[in-house]
Amino acid sequence: MEDISLHVLDIAENSLASGATLITISIAEKTEEDSFIVSIEDNGTGMPEEFVKNVLDPFCTTRTTRKAGLGLSLLAQSARETGGDITVRSVTGKGTLVRAVFHPSHIDMKPNGNIPATIITLITGNPQVDFIFTCSKNNRAYTLDTKLLRQALEDVPINTMDVLSAIKNDLIEALHDISL
Ligand SMILES: Nc1ncnc2c1ncn2[C@@H]1O[C@H](COP(=O)(O)OP(=O)(O)O)[C@@H](O)[C@H]1O
Ligand SMILES: [Mg+2]
Repeated sequence: MEDISLHVLDIAENSLASGATLITISIAEKTEEDSFIVSIEDNGTGMPEEFVKNVLDPFCTTRTTRKAGLGLSLLAQSARETGGDITVRSVTGKGTLVRAVFHPSHIDMKPNGNIPATIITLITGNPQVDFIFTCSKNNRAYTLDTKLLRQALEDVPINTMDVLSAIKNDLIEALHDISL
């Protein structure tokens, strides 16, 4: 995986596949601590404890289309390449939390990629799912909550061109403002 935004998209796809109706994505960078933490939490089916133990193994998958399940193991690899690590916590019937810690000063740190595009892709393809997206750098933060947005939009569907393009511009501006 070339960048952080593609990892986020891939991990959120797992949440969607598990039937989640709420996905919380957070990206938080702290310069002083040299930390860049990506977390994706969902309220999907979760995984049994024994399964979670092996889930970072590239051959651990429930998909039937191919033998390898690479998403989590690739994220683990990207985080570990910077001296960081990944944790996966899951409760059957409750949901899953994937948290990856990166050390951004490391030469092998992946670039952020196109984070607004990832968020827009997720919202566009899954208008029935709620997303809370938070990003922060040091003391600046931005949050997008599609549930609140939907309430504000009243009868206008969230996945219309106009709304999506407004969300995208807002995201781009916000990431620029917090220089993430
Ligand atoms: N958020 C999640 N909720 C429930 N199960 C998950 C979640 N994330 C991963 N899994 C399980 O772990 C397996 C491995 O995930 P992953 O490494 O992304 O590979 P793949 O998606 O290609 O199978 C998935 O097939 C799925 O069974
Ligand atoms: Mg996957």
